Amino acid sequence: MSLKDQIETSKLPKHIAIIMDGNGRWAKKRGLLRNLGHKSGAKSVKQIVEACAEINVKYLTLYAFSTENWNRPKIEIELLMKLLISSLRKELKTLQKNNIKLNAIGNIDLLPKSVRKELVDVIEKTKNNNRLTLSLALSYGSREEIIKTIKEISLKVKNNLISPENIDNSVINNHLYTRNLPDVDLLIRTSGEQRISNFLLWQIAYAELYFTEVLWPDFTKENLFEAILNYQNRERRFGKTSEQLS
Ligand code: FPP
Repeated sequence: MSLKDQIETSKLPKHIAIIMDGNGRWAKKRGLLRNLGHKSGAKSVKQIVEACAEINVKYLTLYAFSTENWNRPKIEIELLMKLLISSLRKELKTLQKNNIKLNAIGNIDLLPKSVRKELVDVIEKTKNNNRLTLSLALSYGSREEIIKTIKEISLKVKNNLISPENIDNSVINNHLYTRNLPDVDLLIRTSGEQRISNFLLWQIAYAELYFTEVLWPDFTKENLFEAILNYQNRERRFGKTSEQLS
């Protein structure tokens, strides 16, 4: 039986988040420029988005550019932004065909105008799609998101729009970039690193973590199905005992 056929549809993770790591090392191993690693990484993005749509995962969030990535060499940032623009242009058709809605999380205002324009255009054109929500984390940092949330809630408290005793999970959730997304069920990081790197710190509170040695440009649909099967063999207790669950 293929890996895909072994997946239990009733136990699918609703929200998968991925730290796409290893593009640079993939290129270095082949004596290529880092940029070619990112280009090849964009091909994996397409494969994995299609795989999620195929098996009916409802939410996929990809860490495409972190707040810390602004510290990379200017030329690498420029090439990544260009790649983003060309991928958005090229993939609009695929998104429409597969009924996929594009979403962005992060401090989008920091992106170059040309990227923002393309992004807003694709978000607008796909806003009524409902098979899968693909969120790109761009200029995203979880601590920045939490600080922004605290500032917004504090202002509401100051203006008597909310009282401190009413601040709960849902108030916080409603102020995060991810306000329209459920909590993450499965977080995948490629390339052998075992870190969270400032990604969705609040949203992964009960996520299952899956680390693989595979570099992002080598990450295939089969690798995704393996990760999902591994997730389905885990017992998610959310703080309860095994006995309580059964
Ligand atoms: C991490 O690899 C990857 C990134 C910082 C960028 C991710 C971008 C893509 C996969 C391509 C385009 C994305 C979309 C959404 C079309 P790294 O450069 O940190 O690799 P290294 O750790 O091996 O140096």
